[in-house]
Amino acid sequence: MKKSFKNKYLVVANWKDSIESFGDAKKDFDLVKKIKFNIKKAELVICPPVVFLSELARNYRGKNIVFGSQNISITNKKPCTGEVSVAELKNLDVEYVIIGHSERRSLGESNEIISKKIAVSIDNKLTPILCVGEIVRDKYGEYLKDVERQLIEGLSEINKKDLNKVIVAYEPVFAIGKGHKSLTTYEIHQMVIFIKKILVSRFNKKVAMEVPIIYGGSVDEENSSDILSESEVQGILIGRAGTNPYSLKEIIRQIK
Ligand code: PGA
Repeated sequence: MKKSFKNKYLVVANWKDSIESFGDAKKDFDLVKKIKFNIKKAELVICPPVVFLSELARNYRGKNIVFGSQNISITNKKPCTGEVSVAELKNLDVEYVIIGHSERRSLGESNEIISKKIAVSIDNKLTPILCVGEIVRDKYGEYLKDVERQLIEGLSEINKKDLNKVIVAYEPVFAIGKGHKSLTTYEIHQMVIFIKKILVSRFNKKVAMEVPIIYGGSVDEENSSDILSESEVQGILIGRAGTNPYSLKEIIRQIK
């Protein structure tokens, strides 16, 4: 599905594997359901652990929240033991899939696998959120080549006409997780420009400029508003703060 985000911010909460029981997931989700916001200004995507996704999505009757999966199978050929199949996700009305998160890359998910998952998602009308980001920075700018490779190889299976169905999440790995700090809004903005430049040279200007770029890495209620207003991003991908319904509420409340 082609998602249109003109004048709208995307807020993606990646719950990772932070919740261990369905009871806790439901409790948090019940609080998130109560968050009031203008759906013309923001799209709130909750990505619960996949074992809880089905129960939460099946019972959700509201309109404000949309669901995302933290993973998808590389293929829709069956059988495929242990994978999160496209058919399962579609039956749950899941709309987004996070692909290529650094925690999955560190387990061996390659750009080649990621590119296939992007293609499977698009073929099945799910919106892929392609995560890219360097592990560390060096003063010679080599890290830019890593991000470029992740973009070019990760998008190698799709053609120009499908580029506007993809969301790119820029997440520098050194900014993710406890004890780390978000990039400054200036640094994020520089990377947004860099990513757009790569997409323009690989595809073309018109489609490339339409790709929403979001930022992730230690986003919370203290910095989200500045990031959204100063970095030229179209949204945020939140880990820890997204698992706290009170932080999430505050992040969304600040969206103007
Ligand atoms: P964090 O995680 O917000 O806890 O840093 C971000 C992510 O992993 O997407």
